[in-house]
Amino acid sequence: MKPIVVRKSRGLKGTITVPGDKSITHRAIILGSLARGTTTVTGYLPSEDCLNTASAFRLMGISIGKGKKAGDPLRIEGKGLRGLSEPPAVLDLGNSGTALRLLTGVLAGQDFFSAVTGDESLRCRPMRRVVDPLRRMGAEIRGRQDGNLAPLAVCGRRLKGISYALPVASAQVKSALLLAGLLADGRTVLAEPLPSRDHTERMFRGMGIPLEVNGKELSLEPPSEFSGREIEVPGDLSSAAFFIVAATIVKNSELVIRNVGINPTRTGLLDLLSEMGAEIRLENRREFNQEPVADLVVRSRLLKGIRIKPESVPRTIDEFPILCVAAAMAEGETVIRGAEELRVKESDRIRTISRELSKMGADIEELPDGLRIRGGRRLSGARCAGHGDHRIAMALAVAGLAARGETTVDGAEWIATSFPGFERLLKKVAQ
Ligand code: S3P
Repeated sequence: MKPIVVRKSRGLKGTITVPGDKSITHRAIILGSLARGTTTVTGYLPSEDCLNTASAFRLMGISIGKGKKAGDPLRIEGKGLRGLSEPPAVLDLGNSGTALRLLTGVLAGQDFFSAVTGDESLRCRPMRRVVDPLRRMGAEIRGRQDGNLAPLAVCGRRLKGISYALPVASAQVKSALLLAGLLADGRTVLAEPLPSRDHTERMFRGMGIPLEVNGKELSLEPPSEFSGREIEVPGDLSSAAFFIVAATIVKNSELVIRNVGINPTRTGLLDLLSEMGAEIRLENRREFNQEPVADLVVRSRLLKGIRIKPESVPRTIDEFPILCVAAAMAEGETVIRGAEELRVKESDRIRTISRELSKMGADIEELPDGLRIRGGRRLSGARCAGHGDHRIAMALAVAGLAARGETTVDGAEWIATSFPGFERLLKKVAQ
């Protein structure tokens, strides 16, 4: 695929939708496969990450059908909690940490052997955060560095429920343990240091799985079975984020983004941008299944720098690359702390975003657990690298819309892991 080339924009205009939510699509495929009966998923994200999750369940004997037309729902014929069969090949989850970690939770409690792996980036990401608590539940999992690095070999076992306090706020860890808890004997009780995205909890409730939520504590009594259902997936706020920031920082913009998920565990970016002076109106609020949704109306505004508290980090976690672009365009200093998790994403995002935005003239400094950005410098087009990270590549393309001259982002093919059609949509609205 050729690199993305972007020039300064004269304003973003129009009404758009963004593809379906990645986190919710993964969960719909996983829970639809474990449910008894048919689940249909409309508005699902047909990106590489989610298609890999679907392929993994097909290898375990689940029929997952795509309609012929774009926009047709995904139809999953679930075989019940213990209906998966031993996969005849290694399950390759590509670039997706969510898929690999959540599947490890599902596989740990099966009565068969399986192996999971991913691409070069995923094979460098830490897995002990799920493997350790799964081992406490009785799982037998092997891998390099005592199970920290994929490929992982999972010898399915009968699991037991545990009480566990998560050391990091991570929806992937929480969800892997809840999925393992579905197959365990006895109750699984989890506590998080700060709330992370709660799509798994909402989908459990929607499917009638008995999960109690008490402040920071979750308690799951494993059901013997649950039934498939219709799921409608909202647009992904983490994809909308690139357009929200683009419309805010490029003068003369007015953009409407329809059907965006606004789950409060995900909306850190909206709150932080508003604190910086952005104008983002939420209209037509409604619910898709258990998930709140709205249309967003965004107009360009001058921003000012802010200090971001560690409490805001989990609610903003995937949006820091694009937030750095907003901060580079704001007057004054923005400081992000308590965000060391960014170092173990698809790339070390503290390093990659500071390195690449510096090439465009931004004053951005790496901190061990975050970034310091002194905004207000004019950005200039440059040749930048995406570092095999979809969100870094998209953030740099947006920065290019506000920079003088031409910006080239190499490695744009990674964008397909979460946002097929990004380049076309960006060019359509950015004039
Ligand atoms: C996700 C959780 C987050 C997020 C990732 C998707 C999920 O990861 O960064 O893009 O779908 O559960 P962590 O759980 O590692 O914070």
